[in-house]
Amino acid sequence: MPGLVIVGAQWGDEGKGKVVDLIAEQADAVIRFQGGNNAGHTIVRDGETFKFHLIPSGILYPGKHCVIGNGVVVDPKVLIGEIDGLRKQGIDLTGLKVSANAHLIMPYHLLLDQAGEARLGKREIGTTKRGIGPAYADKASRLGIRVQDMLDEKILRQKIAAAMEPKAPLLREFVKDPSIDLHQMTEDYRAFGDRLAPYIADTPPIAWKALDAGRLVVLEGAQGALLDIDHGTYPFVTSSNTVAGAACGGAGIGPGSIDEVWGVAKAYSTRVGSGPFPTELHDAMGERIRDAGGEYGTTTGRPRRCGWLDLVALKYAVRINGLTGLVLTKLDVLTGIGPLPVATGYTGPEGARFESFPYHQSVLHRARGELVELAGWDEDISGARTVDDLPASARDYIDFIEDQLGIPVVTIGVGPGREQIIWTKAADGLRQIAA
Ligand code: IMP
Repeated sequence: MPGLVIVGAQWGDEGKGKVVDLIAEQADAVIRFQGGNNAGHTIVRDGETFKFHLIPSGILYPGKHCVIGNGVVVDPKVLIGEIDGLRKQGIDLTGLKVSANAHLIMPYHLLLDQAGEARLGKREIGTTKRGIGPAYADKASRLGIRVQDMLDEKILRQKIAAAMEPKAPLLREFVKDPSIDLHQMTEDYRAFGDRLAPYIADTPPIAWKALDAGRLVVLEGAQGALLDIDHGTYPFVTSSNTVAGAACGGAGIGPGSIDEVWGVAKAYSTRVGSGPFPTELHDAMGERIRDAGGEYGTTTGRPRRCGWLDLVALKYAVRINGLTGLVLTKLDVLTGIGPLPVATGYTGPEGARFESFPYHQSVLHRARGELVELAGWDEDISGARTVDDLPASARDYIDFIEDQLGIPVVTIGVGPGREQIIWTKAADGLRQIAA
């Protein structure tokens, strides 16, 4: 003990990277447990920019155990690019380990992701086109290629051939694409295996050892609660479980090792890709929030859809994750907007009202946020470092969220800088354990 899970509580892009980076300083190990290079975040440290898609940002602390867990799908080319980039920037990578049991994203997964979206046309999911869905599909079909397979040419070739066989009709249009030639692929992935060999490991024991020693282990999720394949807005979701429970399966630990679960949420809402979004703004206010918050994807550059804070969806995220604390990010983006609407219910088809997140897709697609208006503030809050530094109406906004969700806010983001964060008293316990 203790294990701390940090997950997205909305539709991803909540700013998990920054809080993981800050808390990683005190941790023994940081473990990514699902997703792949569909995720991404940027860390600015002493004026230098670091971009991450797969490697936990804890790697910036020399020697820290940074694990890509078995629940992640790994594009080895992307991982090697990230390793090379960090090495060029002088980062010590001795702490990096990749689970031998993690599944690989193969070139045909990328092609199938693109072709699948093209086939859906207007009904597309809006995936990141990184091959995530097809890779998880192969994992579930027992046709996946794992990281350890890259170390054995014979096994690798056999498994690639077996994985491609049932896909032949779908891959016919790409038959001339050299990236999916069996021999070439086997050669390329063997070479990736050689490059990654120093990092490939049996990773759960790293977590067990740290937990047994009473050291802090951070389990880092990607995407967010409403993109969860079971609990999100299916089919407009990612292909893995993004909720905190997935940290166990994706890292190889039991639920008893988890002490705290922090959900990360922006002070408003955003979503990329298609799917329901009950508090979405289609007007100048949506644009204003997008501009003020720099709401463009780190992985695909796509403009994010923006809307008001949705407490119905957040309450749901509290339940499906068992959140013990809320990391509220980007409060400063709302400065100057008043009044500030937040959704505490939904209106559905035929005037039906919902106070909890509706399970039915037809309802959810037509649900609109029922808004209550809170007072805004005009004061610059970017320099606030304690809750008392915030104007009264910003404090009221936080209190309202805590009351509605029934969990404490542990940190409040007031600007992009590392130091632009307020740690509330509710975070004291964990900060002390970690110290
Ligand atoms: P996929 O994960 O690439 O299959 O995309 C499925 C859905 O999840 C799409 O709506 C994506 O925009 C969304 N998505 C995937 N990764 C992220 C992320 O890191 N942040 C936000 N949305 C994401």
